[in-house]
Amino acid sequence: MARFDLITIFPDYFEALELSLIGKARTQGLVDIAVHDLRDHAEGVHKSVDDTPYGGGAGMVMSPEPWGKAIDLVSQGSGPHDLIILTPAGKKFTQAMAEEFSHREHLIFACGRYEGIDHRVTEFYSSQPEFRVHEVSIGDYVLNGGEVATLVMLEAIIRLIPGVLGNPLSLAEESHTLTSEGEAIVEYPNFTKPPEWRGLEVPEILLSGNHAAIKAFRTQEAVKRTVNRE
Ligand code: ADE
Repeated sequence: MARFDLITIFPDYFEALELSLIGKARTQGLVDIAVHDLRDHAEGVHKSVDDTPYGGGAGMVMSPEPWGKAIDLVSQGSGPHDLIILTPAGKKFTQAMAEEFSHREHLIFACGRYEGIDHRVTEFYSSQPEFRVHEVSIGDYVLNGGEVATLVMLEAIIRLIPGVLGNPLSLAEESHTLTSEGEAIVEYPNFTKPPEWRGLEVPEILLSGNHAAIKAFRTQEAVKRTVNRE
């Protein structure tokens, strides 16, 4: 079973992982998710996890040692371990990455806050043979921390794990899945009942029962959408 260890100073963010498909996947034993409080690895009365940046500048930087202790603890036992460090400076998260991570045995998510984590954490684990380190961003905007980014990634990854979705066929036609030609196009627009709503009718071809024509229509609409969103 795939294991996910999430390290954060706000464990409550991850209560959402008890809901819906992910909650069900957990109770069915398809995924094992554990949330860890970084502050359990902080020293001193204040349990401080950050400090001022060397070289000056605004904000605080997360100290390396609590991260080192937390990551060492969750990575006991044999690897490989994929360590994902959430940062707006990371590689942009895509459906292809979600697909790749959905095949991994052990993912560790390091949710930084403030101005990020002391870079030596990335350097140290990158030098460890049992680790693959990925700095990942979910998009070109700045969040207050990596927790929401981790939730986004987990949702995209876990739904790809076999058995998690009720109908795995729904994966084949959805947005960002590569076509047989290797292109990523977004999904065609969908319609359900009623056939007319507020004066708007469902495209007639979808009611025709002509499967070849429907397929061609959907491809054409999907291509239109793909072009329009760029
Ligand atoms: N932390 C802050 N902003 C982020 C982003 N866009 N992606 C991932 N982690 C972040």
